[in-house]
This record gives sequence, structure tokens and C-alpha cells, in this order.
Amino acid sequence: MAELVPVEPFDIVIFGATGDLARRKLVPALFHRWCDGQIPENSRIVAAARDELSTADYIKRAGEMVLTGGASAERRDAWARFTQHLTYCAVDATADGKGWGELKAALDPDPKKIRLFYLALPPSIYGSVCDAIGEHGLNTPRSRIVLEKPIGHDFHSARQVNEAVGRVFPENAIFRIDHYLGKETVQNLLILRFANMLLEPVWNSGGIDHVQITVAESLGAGKRASYYDRAGALRDMVQNHLLQLLCLVAMEPPASLEADAVRAEKLKVLRALRRIDSKSVNKAVVRGQYEAGVSDRESVEGYAEEVGEATDTETFVAIRGEIDNWRWAGVPFYLRTGKRMRSRRSEIIIQFKPVPHDIIQADAGALQPNRLVIRLQPDEGVKLMLMTKDPGPGGVRLRYVPLNLSFADEFEKDYPDAYERLLMAVVRGNLGLFMRRDEVETAWRWTDGIIAAWHDGDCPVHLYPAGTDGPTQASLLLGRDDREWFDADTA
Ligand code: NDP
Ligand code: BG6
Repeated sequence: MAELVPVEPFDIVIFGATGDLARRKLVPALFHRWCDGQIPENSRIVAAARDELSTADYIKRAGEMVLTGGASAERRDAWARFTQHLTYCAVDATADGKGWGELKAALDPDPKKIRLFYLALPPSIYGSVCDAIGEHGLNTPRSRIVLEKPIGHDFHSARQVNEAVGRVFPENAIFRIDHYLGKETVQNLLILRFANMLLEPVWNSGGIDHVQITVAESLGAGKRASYYDRAGALRDMVQNHLLQLLCLVAMEPPASLEADAVRAEKLKVLRALRRIDSKSVNKAVVRGQYEAGVSDRESVEGYAEEVGEATDTETFVAIRGEIDNWRWAGVPFYLRTGKRMRSRRSEIIIQFKPVPHDIIQADAGALQPNRLVIRLQPDEGVKLMLMTKDPGPGGVRLRYVPLNLSFADEFEKDYPDAYERLLMAVVRGNLGLFMRRDEVETAWRWTDGIIAAWHDGDCPVHLYPAGTDGPTQASLLLGRDDREWFDADTA
């Protein structure tokens, strides 16, 4: 059983409290941690946005996200007790905005109490909000700031945001969210790699043929279409979530799990990623956009109809990446992510090399190389595909079978959502689950190269029907290397 250790009492200000993220993820996350007894009673939650709402109105609105579908009397009662810690403040969070006096009054004046500022706001105002926090004297010695992604839309804008935030908060008080780092199965990657002896000796170009990282979603751009249309899959998913997964797979063993030890190793991977430019982009990257199709058994419209105009924003991207270092020379890392794909699934597949010499007679069946399938979501688990002998008489017949670890079967089913874990990690000051400034900027440099190449060259956006695995060109990306995408269900 996991042990729940309460955190120190804290105050949290959620800027952007009426927005989608705050209502759908942050307030429910705090509520769940409070229900589990992890948040001490003398903690305070201050919800801030520009709408002139009373605290009661806000609680009612936020309650709609938490008390869904016939919530039990017990849950309603818990919500009523939880919301006694919650105050709403109408604040214009930009420097010359109003409402800061009320906000300050809602916070515990004790400078020793941990104070969190969560910016669930349009990223364009991160800098001015930080200035305002400083100018209004809210930044106490134990304050921390949490920045949602995206941090900028390219290297230069990310640097500007980081500089603006850095003028008010030191780097060790800045928590840049990549919610994938808060996922149970993503954290488990470090344990799988570095707490098991058997993988490390073959975790390199000697033992591994290639790596596939897939983050597929069945949903479309939906309510966030106006943001998404300016971002696209490369900025929205690859620059952060997929590159973080790649780093965890590819990094050298850190000396410890201490935040900077891990972040320094991830940074080395990002720096070693081979740059994709206009000469290599068409062989290394495929971009696509969904058109109308059938998703989750329902007919859905295409992306262009959803956003109301034809655009070349990519809702799918597949990349053949290479890491130029000793460990990974010649090992392709195939990354793929998209919206409106066949199903929602995130997985990492490590394809090992074949055995060097085949001693088994030809009619015994195909000898297949080992494959490690790390299923991040849903149906979290780890599967190692091995060759075995089909038991029984009649000579040797080979079978390719899984050694299967299903988290649902093996462990407690309900572990906390990523945001629950990340919020508690901020209170604890655990920076290891967050991105350091140099990681974010280096990741942008690499993705900026691809975006520049798209602008320079003739890089079409291929259409794919909603509810499929993306454009056929994505299969050619691997087909050219005599490989194919694996499906974890059948891998
Ligand atoms: P929304 O547009 O739904 O919400 C934005 C919030 O910011 C609203 O509460 C808005 O309220 C408030 N706001 C805007 N301007 C100001 C201002 N000057 N002062 C005070 N409050 C202001 O955005 P999301 O909740 O979707 O996203 C928030 C952030 O989280 C963004 O950076 C987004 O990229 C990021 N994010 C969101 C995800 C999601 O699933 N929603 C996932 C990953 C990241 P009002 O206008 O009333 O003031
Ligand atoms: C967010 C992206 O960071 O991650 C969204 O902005 C995406 O576009 C989401 O849908 C996916 O997260 P998850 O946890 O559902 O895989």
C-alpha cells in the first residue's frame, strides 16, 4: 500500500481559476488530496480570475466539475468542508490590474508559510503577472511559482518568459509543469531502468534496434482549438511530453534521483538530438491533419471544419529522431503523436536486436527479437516479449509470449492523477518532476529547427481520416528503414 504523507500547510493562489484547467484538473486535484488527508487543515486556496464572482458562486461552479453524476452524500459533505478553505478573488492579474489588495488579505501573512502561485493563465501574461506579484509584495521567501505549458512558442519567446519570471523568482522556486512527468507510469520509467540490473547492459546501440514512442489521442482539438491552431502537434506535444519521455528512455544513469542530477542527464540528451533541417526534414518528419471520419464509433468532423477554416496546422506528427552520442549511435527514435487517432494510448516500445546466431531449426517458427512494451496509459503496464518453446512433444516449436505486468492487476487501482502528484511535489519543493529552464529552451531549439524547415521547404500536411493511425506516409517513415509501427495491443 502506498503511504500518504501529509505535506506542510500551504496557501495556493490559482490564477485563471475560472478557466478549463483550473476547474477540470486543479481544483479537483486539491480536493482529492484533501479528502485523502494529505493537505493540512490550515491551508488556504485562493481562486483568482477577472470575473466578478462571489466565493459562493465560484464554489458552485467548481462543484459542478467535482460533484458530477449523483455524487454521494459523503462526497458532497467532504466538498462542503473542503470549500471552507477556498476564497474567490476578482483580480486582474496583469501589473496594473485591480484586486491585489483583496488577494493579499486572503493570504496568510506568515512569511514562513509555503505560498504557491499557480499560473493557469494565457502564457502571454506570465511575465506581467510575476512583475505584479513582486510589486504587490506577495513574493515571500517560501513562495513558489508554477508555470503551465506552453512556456513560449519558440526558443526566443521561451527565453523572454523565463527571463521575466526569473527577475522575480529564483530558478529553484520555479516549477514548470509537464504533466507527463507526474504520471505514475512515467515516473516508473526511472525505476524500471535504474532499479533493475538486467536492462542496463543491453540498453544501448549494442542491444537495442530502435525505440518507438507513441502518444495517441482519440479526441480532437475541441474547446482548445483556438490555442491549438496556433500551436499544432509539434509545439503542443513533442516539444514537451514526447521529448521528456525520450529523455527518460535515453539518458545516462544519474548519480542520484536528486532533481538536478536527473535534469542534467536529460539536458545532455536534448543537446545530443540531431538537428533536423530543410535537407533532412522530408525523410525525418511526417505531418498530418485529420479529416472527417469515425472516432469512438461516432462520425466526427475534420479539423478544418472544427476550426472553421482551412489551415496547415498539424494535428499529427511522426519523427525519426537520432541521438548523436556513444550510447545511441545508429539507433532511431521514432516519435508519433496525433489527435483523433484510432484510440487513446501512450506507449514506449523498445525493440531489441535479434540474437547474434540462430541455433533453432527453420521449421520451428520465426525467431523474433525481444521487445519491451511500456504502456503509459490506459491499461498501464510493462510487457516483455520473449521467445519460448511451445510446451509438449513433437519437437521444438517457438512461441513469442509476453511476460506481463499489469498495474491494475498487481497494484492498487486508484493512484492519484498527475496533477495531484505534481501539486504535492510543488509543496514539497521537489523540482525533479518539473522542467528546468535549460531543458525547455534546448527542446525549443530542436523543434524550432523542424518548424523552420517546414517553412523553408515543400513539406505537405497529409490528411488522414479521423479514427485511424495517421497518414500512410507515417508508415513509410519506418518502411524506408524496413521497420513498422507496433501496436501495443498486438506487440
Ligand atoms: P482558459 O482560457 O480556459 O482559462 C484562462 C483563465 O485565465 C480564465 O480563468 C481567465 O479568466 C483567466 N485570465 C485571463 N486573463 C486574465 C487576467 N489578466 N487576470 C486574471 N485572470 C485572467 O485556459 P485553460 O484553463 O485551458 O489554460 C490555462 C493555461 O494552462 C494555459 O497556459 C494553457 O496553455 C495551459 N494548459 C491547459 C490545459 C488544459 O487542459 N486546459 C492543458 C495544458 C496546459 P477571466 O478571463 O475571467 O479573467
Ligand atoms: C496537453 C496538451 O499538454 O496534453 C493537450 O496541450 C493534450 O493537447 C494533453 O490533449 C494530453 O494529456 P493526457 O494526460 O490526456 O495524455
